[in-house]
Amino acid sequence: MLRAGLKPGSRLVDLGCGVLRAGYWLIHFLDPGCYCGIEPHQGRLEMGVHTILKPGMLDLKRPRFDTNPHFDTSVFGDKFDFFLAYSVWTHAAKQQIEIMLDSFLRDSTDDAVFLTSCLPANWRHADYRGEQWYGTSHESDVPGCIYHRIRWIRAQCDQRGLTLRKLGRDETHGQSWIEIRRLPQSQHL
Ligand SMILES: C[S@@+](CC[C@H](N)C(=O)[O-])C[C@H]1O[C@@H](n2cnc3c(N)ncnc32)[C@H](O)[C@@H]1O
Repeated sequence: MLRAGLKPGSRLVDLGCGVLRAGYWLIHFLDPGCYCGIEPHQGRLEMGVHTILKPGMLDLKRPRFDTNPHFDTSVFGDKFDFFLAYSVWTHAAKQQIEIMLDSFLRDSTDDAVFLTSCLPANWRHADYRGEQWYGTSHESDVPGCIYHRIRWIRAQCDQRGLTLRKLGRDETHGQSWIEIRRLPQSQHL
C-alpha cells in the first residue's frame, strides 16, 4: 500500500476487514478518522476492535466501522483514496465484485487506488460461477476459496473506465494482488 502511495492522511476503506489483520497496522499508520472498515460478522469485528486493537487506539485513531453486508461504502459519507479487499475476492461471487467496483467508482477520489487480492482461475482451478459468497462469513461456517478469471476482472474494469495492473503474489498465502485505478481522462474514448 505504501508503494501505491498510501500516506498517513489517506482515507481508506477496508472491505471485509474481519478481525483487522490489515486493519490493525493501517489504523496505527493512518491519521485519526482516516480508517473505515466494513465487516458483517459481528463477532469477528468485536474481536478485532476489543481484543486485537490495544486499549486507547479507538480514542486515539477514531476508526469507523459498519456491518452492512452490501459492500456499501457510502455509509461513511466520505470519498476514499484507497479501497482494500484483502482475502475477500477469494470468496466473493462475481456480482459482489461488481458491486465493490461500483462502490469504488461512486465513493472514491479521482486518483484513488483499489488494492485487492484474488486467486486467478486457470486450467486447474475453474472460474467461479456461483451467485453466493463462498467461505466463512456472517452467514456460513463452511470454509473455502474460489477463483476468478483475470480476463473477466479486466473486462469489468474496462466497462467502468478502470485500469487493472497485476502486482504479483504475496509470499504468505500465495494470493495474487491487483491494483485498480481510474483511467486517465485522456484515455477515455
Ligand atoms: C477471509 S476473511 C478476510 C478478512 C480480512 N480482510 C483479512 O484479511 O483478515 C473474509 C471476510 O469477509 C467478510 N464478509 C463476508 N461477506 C461479506 C460481505 N457481504 N460484506 C463484507 N464482508 C463480508 C467475512 O465475514 C470475513 O471476515
